[in-house]
Amino acid sequence: MKKIVVFTGAGVSADSGLATFRDSDGLWASYRIEDVCTPEALAHNRATVIGFYNMRRREMLAAQPNAGHEAIAGLERDFEVEVLTQNVDDLHERAGSSKVTHLHGELTCLRSSRNPDLVAPLDAPAPDGALLRPHIVFFGEAVPMFERAAQIARTADIMVVVGTSLAVYPAASLVRYVRPGIPIYVVDPGNPDTAGIRNPLTLIRKRAAEGMPELAALLRERYKG
Ligand code: APR
Repeated sequence: MKKIVVFTGAGVSADSGLATFRDSDGLWASYRIEDVCTPEALAHNRATVIGFYNMRRREMLAAQPNAGHEAIAGLERDFEVEVLTQNVDDLHERAGSSKVTHLHGELTCLRSSRNPDLVAPLDAPAPDGALLRPHIVFFGEAVPMFERAAQIARTADIMVVVGTSLAVYPAASLVRYVRPGIPIYVVDPGNPDTAGIRNPLTLIRKRAAEGMPELAALLRERYKG
């Protein structure tokens, strides 16, 4: 059974009504990164940061997985699938994907502001007594899951990239961890930065909700069995 590694960004959740970051109506058009997504902002402007992530958590809870998430989860019927996502929503899990690695954290968790390994569900008290904080990788912070994600990317027989501008590192460099010759399929209506992709590349310039089900059918036709 071939292994598909699916690498996703905010665009895969756009069809569920969740904002991306760098589209013209994206979050960074309304909020400054330095106000809501840096350790300094959390230290000096805690209420604004907590409010930003509470707002995104409420929107996530009101959203439903879309046909793109469902097509990715459905690949598990015919392939071994691992999802590497930059997204902090839980829509891949709610669509049924069973192996999801969150590179940039999760809105469904909080963590100690002192020890990043102490992660707690949303309603738990801080296990080490420190103030809880969003379990989100802020700009300027380490990406502890990156090494695990790079190892997973190296095992791919096929890589699918959905809804990411490939603008933020180290996450975007994952496309360069697949072995030489491994095919990479990109689903995105816009212009992600594919310059770093050295492998055979197929670009499907469609929204995830339309392009991902089509790609899933193509992958089954070409690689199933
Ligand atoms: N279907 C598929 N792709 C879409 C859709 C859609 N309906 N709508 C937009 N896109 C594409 C855009 O064309 C763009 O390439 O999704 C991508 C969104 O890019 P970004 O907004 O930069 O989001 P992302 O790549 O996930 O950002 C990476 O940046 O701010 C940080 O931590 C944050 O994880 C995030 C990281």
